[in-house]
Amino acid sequence: MEEELKQIIESVEEEIASITTSADFEQFKARISGPNGSFTAMSKKIATLPVEERPTAGKLINVYKQRLQGIWASALSRLEAEALAQKIGPAIDPTLVSPEIPQGTQHILIQVREEIVSILRKIGFIVADGPEVESEYFCFDALNTPKDHPARDLQDTYYTNKQTPFGNVSRQEDERYLLRTHTSSVQIRTMLEQQPPIRIIAPGRCFRRDTADATHSANFHQIEALYVDKGVTVRDLKADLDYLFRSLLGPDAETRFRPHYFSYTEPSFEVDLKAQHLGKVGSEWMEIMGCGMVDPAVFEEMGYDPEVWTGYAFGLGIERIAMTLYGIDDIRYLFQNDVRLLSQFK
Ligand code: DAH
Repeated sequence: MEEELKQIIESVEEEIASITTSADFEQFKARISGPNGSFTAMSKKIATLPVEERPTAGKLINVYKQRLQGIWASALSRLEAEALAQKIGPAIDPTLVSPEIPQGTQHILIQVREEIVSILRKIGFIVADGPEVESEYFCFDALNTPKDHPARDLQDTYYTNKQTPFGNVSRQEDERYLLRTHTSSVQIRTMLEQQPPIRIIAPGRCFRRDTADATHSANFHQIEALYVDKGVTVRDLKADLDYLFRSLLGPDAETRFRPHYFSYTEPSFEVDLKAQHLGKVGSEWMEIMGCGMVDPAVFEEMGYDPEVWTGYAFGLGIERIAMTLYGIDDIRYLFQNDVRLLSQFK
């Protein structure tokens, strides 16, 4: 009996491979497993065997029945897959070379920001944050910038009646709100929340009512730095800026301090930059940023004893640095999102 069952299975395995339609499959299956099929006939034979042989024969039939069911199931799924493949066309060839998908890059401003942040993190600065909608207190008053200061002028500041959702909202009556004109407001937010020593940098977006031209944009980015500790001097400031620009531009980068006025630093400086290999910028000093030693009046406002604490602060424009680094001569290119420009900076 086992011989016969084996033969049935073997011939089924052989023939099933050449079946390609489900109609043929059903017909073939009926010839084997249908009411008059050859396998069914074998199972019926059990009844004709002597009683003592029936259990062994029954088990044998079951084993082969299961094999047969396995064959039917895999044939059926093969036929289904073939039908589907016919519907959707030729099979996918995973070895084909894929069409080129253009890869995105970080915007130049982000690249430059990240580079500056990573250079400054190496000397202990951590990143601090503040809101873009700011109150006059954080943007001006606390920075020792009096009510009649021209920086507050309606002509170059965007005022809004929206309140900032960012903690510490109003500190004075009749507070006015504005789009921050610089990131220096983050100095104040940090000093009110922490105690010295402090070493923070605050990258962020700023706004001024500038008419757009090659060097002005109403929307620009700065990185602010504040270092407060005992015994901080202008030498620390100069050395850290030299370190920053040499890391960023190469060892031939030089800085020059010119006396200037900012209400929150005393003394204050404008920093000029020169780096031989930078072409046009290389041959002449170029004004790059503002900085100074934190004014004692600011420390007093923060509740820090100015006899104990000293510090420096600086703020630099990311656009200006990016333009210098990459020889971009119009700030508007940085905001047009034109891939012809952006794809040059990978
Ligand atoms: N806030 C200044 C600006 O917007 C830049 C600046 C100057 C920041 C001197 C400072 C500083 O922290 O000490 O142009």
